[in-house]
Amino acid sequence: MTNLQASQTIDFHSDPYRDAYQRINGIVIEGEQQAYENFVQLSELLPEHQKELLRLAKMEAGHRKSFEACGRNLDVIPDLEFARQFFADLHQVFQAAADAKQVATCLVVQALVIECFAIAAYNEYLPVADDFAQKVTALVVKDEYSHLNFGEIWLKQSFEQVKDEIKRANQQVLPIVWKMLKRVEADMQTLGMVKMAVIDDFIGRYSETLSQIGFSTPEILRMSLAGL
Ligand SMILES: [Fe+2]
Ligand SMILES: [Fe+2]
Repeated sequence: MTNLQASQTIDFHSDPYRDAYQRINGIVIEGEQQAYENFVQLSELLPEHQKELLRLAKMEAGHRKSFEACGRNLDVIPDLEFARQFFADLHQVFQAAADAKQVATCLVVQALVIECFAIAAYNEYLPVADDFAQKVTALVVKDEYSHLNFGEIWLKQSFEQVKDEIKRANQQVLPIVWKMLKRVEADMQTLGMVKMAVIDDFIGRYSETLSQIGFSTPEILRMSLAGL
């Protein structure tokens, strides 16, 4: 079944759909909240980019509000407790790096991994979303591309100094991402999304970004499949 056919048969008000949506909507809201907090912390670590990073943070706060509206629209209460647990490991990596002033690691987590992941998941969700969420998500995805771009440019400019740190961060973070995806596979399926399609989109986008930053093809192959 194609996504388009799927969206025509999805009952957005059925109990199974709303049950899965509680967790997925919670994850999205918490993900945007963490993105907001991460960019605020990055603005303190990179004072020369403060204005731009606070602008990105503000966009993330707006995204959170937009997705809260999606939940309200389906009369669903997001499961934020589940969502906080869902992000705990990733959050921990970012926080430890921020405390140690490891800017490259922070950018790998937020501006590469979270943004690539968000774009992949939102793109996969778009064709099977309800009308309201579809409009909201389409606008959000556009913003996420510009956030990915910020990390790419910064890491590219500092490539020689931060190459090893990026590799270490990659090894640490990607296995966490695969674990997170596995945890929500069934819920994504209920919403009409296919986990493999999200992984494919993520790996393609992430690999392309690593290539722009300066990594070689063999390096990218090793990095993008770490822990999968
Ligand atoms: Fe966002
Ligand atoms: Fe973003």
